[in-house]
Amino acid sequence: QKVAPFATEPFTDFSLPENKQAMEAALAKVKNELGKSYPLHIGSDKIETGDKIVSINPGNVDQTIGTVSKASKELAEQAMQTAVGAFETWKRVPARERAEFLFEAAKRMRERKHEFSAWMVYEAGKNYAEADADTAEAIDFMEYYAREMIRLSETSIHQPLVKLEGEDNRLTYIPLGVGVVIPPWNFPLAICVGMTTAAIVSGNTVVLKPASTTPVIAHKFVELMEEVGLPAGVLNFIPGSGAEVGDYLTMHPKTRFISFTGSKEVGLHINRLAAQTSEGQIWIKRLVAEMGGKDGIVVDETADLDAAAAAIVASAFGFQGQKCSAGSRAIIVESVYDKVVDKVAALASKLTVGLPELNYPIGPVVDKTSYERILGYIEIGKTEGRLLVGGGAAEGNGYYIQPTVFADVDGKARIMQEEIFGPVLAIAKAKDWKHAIEMFNDTEFGLTGAFFSAVEERIEEALETVHCGNLYINRKCTGALVGVHPFGGFNMSGTDSKAGGHDYLLLFTQAKLTSRKL
Ligand code: NAD
Ligand code: ALA
Repeated sequence: QKVAPFATEPFTDFSLPENKQAMEAALAKVKNELGKSYPLHIGSDKIETGDKIVSINPGNVDQTIGTVSKASKELAEQAMQTAVGAFETWKRVPARERAEFLFEAAKRMRERKHEFSAWMVYEAGKNYAEADADTAEAIDFMEYYAREMIRLSETSIHQPLVKLEGEDNRLTYIPLGVGVVIPPWNFPLAICVGMTTAAIVSGNTVVLKPASTTPVIAHKFVELMEEVGLPAGVLNFIPGSGAEVGDYLTMHPKTRFISFTGSKEVGLHINRLAAQTSEGQIWIKRLVAEMGGKDGIVVDETADLDAAAAAIVASAFGFQGQKCSAGSRAIIVESVYDKVVDKVAALASKLTVGLPELNYPIGPVVDKTSYERILGYIEIGKTEGRLLVGGGAAEGNGYYIQPTVFADVDGKARIMQEEIFGPVLAIAKAKDWKHAIEMFNDTEFGLTGAFFSAVEERIEEALETVHCGNLYINRKCTGALVGVHPFGGFNMSGTDSKAGGHDYLLLFTQAKLTSRKL
C-alpha cells in the first residue's frame, strides 16, 4: 500500500474563536486530570516506586501536574535487560510494520492534538501557539521517520552498488541494539517523540529517561505508544536522576548508542563517559548529541528593518527564549543600529507576561534553577550593556521574568558568549556587514543564525561564511520544520545530526553488505 507524501502538520490559528474554544476545552479536561501518579514502564510492568519526581506548573507553582515514580539503578538495570531481550524480536519485525506503529500514533495524537498541547501549557509553561507547534512537530517526526524507514528499507535493496558479474550484492541498514534516549524539557513532546521514535522505527529498543521537569507529558507519549500496541519492552520509561540513572546507563556495557539532546555541559560529560569501555562491552558506543546554542541575527543597512526587528524579537522571546534556536544575540551594522535598536525595544516592551493557561505571549521560565540563573545573567548584563527593556523578575505565582534587552554589548561579553536560555537579548554594533558576520561567528556554538540584507552578493557571501547548522536568510532563526529544515548544529552545539532530515535514521542503523555468488 502506497503511503501519501509527507506534509507538515498545519499550525492552529487561535485567532479563530472555534480553535480558541477547543483549546480551552482541552485545558479544562486536562486540569481535571492534574495531580495523578505515573509509574515506570519496564516491559509490560508498571512500577510505582517510593521515590518520586513531583512535576509542578512553573506558572503557578502551587499546582501539581503529576507525581512520577523515579527509577533507581536497580530498576535502570531491569529496564536495560528488558530492552536487550526485546531487541531480539523487534529487530526482526519488518520495517513497514514498525512504521505502522508510528503512523497510528501520529493519527491518534492528531485527533487529541489540543489535549497534548494543554499538558505542555501546564507542565512546561508554553502559550497556546508554542504548545501547538510542539505537538505538530511531534506528529511530523512520527510521520516523517515512518516514511524514512520505509524508504531506507526499500531503497537499500536497490542500493546503486557497482554491478559485478556473477554476484548479487546488497547493502541493508540494520538496527544497532539498545539505545538510551535522553531528551530535554524545552520541546518536551516533540524532541522526546522524535528521538525515541527514530530509534524505535529503525529497529532498536529504547530505555527512555525523560527530563525531570517534564516527565508527565513524556508519560503521555509512552501511554500513546502502548495504546497503539507497540510490543512490550521496545520502549521502557524510567524517569530518574541524570547523575544517577543517566550515568549508569551511559556506562552500561549493553548500551549500544546514546541519543542525547540538552546542554553542552551534560553532552560533554556523556561524551566522556561513553568513550570509556566497560567490562563486557563489545562495541564502540555511538553518541548522537545535540547541545546548546548562542544563536543570533545579523542585520545590514539594506535590510527591511521592520521585518528584522520583528524577527529579532520573535527569535529572542518565543517560549521565553528557552529554545536551543533562540536568537539571544542581535548584531547590527552601525549605520542603522539606532533605528533597529529602537524598533526592537518598542516591540519587546509590548510583550505582556502572565499565566500560560490564559495565553499570555510570555510565560514563566521552567524552574527555580533556571529562574535564578537567568536573573543572575541579567545582573551581569547590567554591567556589560545598556539596559533598554525589562531587567528583572515579573509578577506572578511562578518563575516569571521580564523580557529583557541590553544594547551596546561587546562581542566578547558574557551575555554575548554564554547560553542564557531565557528571555534575555543582547545587541551589539558592528562596523559593517562583514564585521557583523565575524562577530556572529565568534562563539563556541553554531546552531542557528539569520542574516538580513537586500543585497544578493552579501547574501551569497553569508551563505558561505556564516557558520551554523541552520542558517536563515531574511527570516527568524527559530521554527525549523520537519523535512523542510533538517535541524542540528556545529561546534559545541553538537554532532549536527540533522533531526527531521534524510540523514537522521542512518545514525540509528549500521550498513550491512551481503554478497552472494550466483
Ligand atoms: P540538560 O543538559 O540539563 O538536560 C538534558 C537531559 O539530560 C535531561 O533529561 C536531564 O535529566 C539529562 N541529564 C542530566 N544529567 C545527566 C547525566 N549525567 N547523564 C545522563 N543524562 C543526564 O538540558 P535541559 O535543561 O533539559 O535542556 C536545555 C538545553 O538543551 C539547552 O542547552 C538547549 O540549547 C539544549 N537543546 C538543544 C537542542 C538541539 O537540538 N541542539 C534542542 C533542545 C534543547
Ligand atoms: N526546532 C526548533 C526550532 O527551530 C528548536 O526552533
